[in-house]
Amino acid sequence: MSFISKLSQKLKKKPIMSQWPGLIEAYRIWLPVSKKTPVITLQEGATPLISIKSIAKRLGKGIKVYAKYDGLNPTGSFKDRGMTLAISKAKEENCKAVICASTGNTSASAAAYAKRAGIKAFVLIPDGYVAQGKLAQALVYGAEVIAIKGNFDQALKLVQEMSTNFPITLVNSVNPYRIQGQKTAAFEIIESLGNAPEYLCIPMGNGGNITAYWLGFNEYFEAKKSSILPTMFGFQAIGSAPLVLNKTIDNPETIATAIRIGNPVNREKAKKVKKESGGDFFAVTDNEIKEAYKILGEEEGIFCEPASAASVAGLLKNKGKIKPNSKVVCVLTGNGLKDPDCAIATNNAIFHSDISPEIKTVAKVMGF
Ligand code: F0G
Repeated sequence: MSFISKLSQKLKKKPIMSQWPGLIEAYRIWLPVSKKTPVITLQEGATPLISIKSIAKRLGKGIKVYAKYDGLNPTGSFKDRGMTLAISKAKEENCKAVICASTGNTSASAAAYAKRAGIKAFVLIPDGYVAQGKLAQALVYGAEVIAIKGNFDQALKLVQEMSTNFPITLVNSVNPYRIQGQKTAAFEIIESLGNAPEYLCIPMGNGGNITAYWLGFNEYFEAKKSSILPTMFGFQAIGSAPLVLNKTIDNPETIATAIRIGNPVNREKAKKVKKESGGDFFAVTDNEIKEAYKILGEEEGIFCEPASAASVAGLLKNKGKIKPNSKVVCVLTGNGLKDPDCAIATNNAIFHSDISPEIKTVAKVMGF
């Protein structure tokens, strides 16, 4: 038998790669679903946990640092973990329309999953403060976009009122299914490392994701699938740091528009995570965010959005708080492609423009 026919027989028996079914099927027993729940999925989850040595090097003391790159979810952010469950449950409950307020990622994710479920999606966004990629997604996935002359906090108040007064399901992180779905990221980290890390570093806006991770870490800990509960460090941009300052910010500002939030809806839950985990919340400046963003791109080949880089910026700023020989996971919540304007403005690249298309000129520019 020829090599090729042997190989093709082998391949018939065993597929090279089995399909990841999405996180509801992968973690069904941990989630509030039943046989009746229609599973609306884009095969989200199973995102990589990448060792980031350039950051570890800056910390020293035998510390290992990893990035949970959740920007590799189907719509490019961690929101897909919560949205697969929120939309599946909305479908199960026969809902006809969903609504959310969003700094961009929630709206992209809600729009995509609602479309797959055949549900109408309305998204309220702060006009002028949503990154281009995110806006493009909401439009392409066919959501009805309502841009308000106000900020995220005002948009959230409106959608909460809308969902109370009209037959429309709210899919912001006050929806408990969002937190349930998002907790699976903690499961994946434990499965990758064989245990929980000593520290988790995470950007915070509304405080939903830090709540979800803590829930996931606790569930696996109680089931004896891990023996460590991480210290949770949450980071906010200095101009939008209501959880750090413990007060509402009326006019939040930051280049990290995803976390430009002044009145976090999960404030109490986030405070509880901080207390229970022995963790803390810190602010980082926009410049520190940009610095971390560039390090990830230039030294690691990892392109995240500015809000996500806040986790790495916060770690670098607070490196003295990390014990020697421990493991740290930084959550990279969103993909860099979401915010091309920031990317083009924030890099140290060499970019030659106006070059005539001749070998001599190109070679000269390249230094030959
Ligand atoms: N990182 C990114 C990229 C985000 O989009 C968000 C929130 C967060 C972090 C903060 O997560 O709110 O659970 O503490 N984005 C929301 C949105 C507000 O509308 O897309 P959180």
